Amino acid sequence: MTLAEHPIETPPRAPSPVHRFGTLAVHAGSPHDPVTGAVIEPISLSTTFAQTSVGKPVGVYEYSRSSNPNRDNFERAIAALEHARFALAFSSGSATTANILQSLAAGSHVVSVSDVYGGTHRYFTKVAASHNVKVTFTPTIEIDISELIRPETKLIWIESPSNPTLSLVDIRKVASIAHQHGILVVVDNTFLSPYVQNPLDHGADIVVHSVTKYINGHSDVVMGAAAYNSESLHERLTFLQNAIGAVPSAFDSWLAHRGLKTLHLRAREATKNATSIAEALENSPHVIAVNYPGLPSSPFYHIAQKQHRNGMGGGMLSFRIRGGHEAAERFCQETKIFTLAESLGGVESLVEVPGAMTHAGIPREQREIAGVFDDLVRVSCGIEDEEDLKADVLQALEKAVVGPKVSKNGALAANGNGLS
Ligand SMILES: Cc1ncc(COP(=O)(O)O)c(C=O)c1O
Repeated sequence: MTLAEHPIETPPRAPSPVHRFGTLAVHAGSPHDPVTGAVIEPISLSTTFAQTSVGKPVGVYEYSRSSNPNRDNFERAIAALEHARFALAFSSGSATTANILQSLAAGSHVVSVSDVYGGTHRYFTKVAASHNVKVTFTPTIEIDISELIRPETKLIWIESPSNPTLSLVDIRKVASIAHQHGILVVVDNTFLSPYVQNPLDHGADIVVHSVTKYINGHSDVVMGAAAYNSESLHERLTFLQNAIGAVPSAFDSWLAHRGLKTLHLRAREATKNATSIAEALENSPHVIAVNYPGLPSSPFYHIAQKQHRNGMGGGMLSFRIRGGHEAAERFCQETKIFTLAESLGGVESLVEVPGAMTHAGIPREQREIAGVFDDLVRVSCGIEDEEDLKADVLQALEKAVVGPKVSKNGALAANGNGLS
């Protein structure tokens, strides 16, 4: 008797209200293969699926842009982790943003926090505008949202924490005003991941992610996702997902789903490392200011306490270094474990200078209003050992700020920390 004749009974997969995060991360959207019993789903590379008669596919799939088994399973997992009824995956975080903005009618208005990811800012100002969707940016959305709402306002866009200044927004406060006007609230949760924050639980209508970051977590997939509860929204966004076609491959969906299964472990380690580094930076004479919502000195600490799991600060932080832009650049070149690179949320630690890299496209004046000064360094903490990371930051600070000392005879000398 073959396996096909004797399908293996698969246990029911984790229903979301019953199980905790780690259990859901491992099991949600992860059925055993009903034919072979494989515990890990196969990668379904087929672009098309056979039909027994016209319009009658063998199973539920017809064509892989519309849906495929790996993307479906990944979407189920994201929905479970974000406490949502529905989730959709896209080919990047930016494609997710584009699909949501495309769902707005021409003439719509959006209110957005100022310090959004540079690519989001670019889409809002250079692409949405050409479809006659206008965006107003504000650095103080909790205070001035009521004044900024117009009859044609359809969406509020929040990044909390924001990129790269780690500012938090009280989602519930903004959502309760938006909802009085029938306006939807979108929260970009990329910096925290669903392990640390679930925006839908705080009143948001849509949560979006660059899956490229924490959810995949291994810096080897570019992907995005949106999760929400509304059926009408699901109908509209599913239509656009297929019509625009900015979808992830089956292989990327499978990889990102594999990454997601360890999200809780990675997010805990990254937070532990970031907390330790933020404290060390705060105590350093070479640092002007530290942006990290997990520090009691942060102006956003009280929001982190109520909005984040156990008040966790997440794995991202930024700081202003003494010595201006040159010191910021030198710092990023002097780290030995942290790699100078864009992106974030991977197992490996990264550093970058947003004013010259991820946010270079935003005019300086606008950047500085949002706190993105030339001396700002952004740090993505990975899951290496805490003490090694802290030592690396401290030695790089010493070299970047103190710089090479000129000895009495005019020759350049090392910094005296033995690490040159
Ligand atoms: C907060 C945030 N949102 C969205 C994006 C865009 O995601 P992707 O690069 O996957 O298009 C990024 C990318 O860095 C980001 O940091």
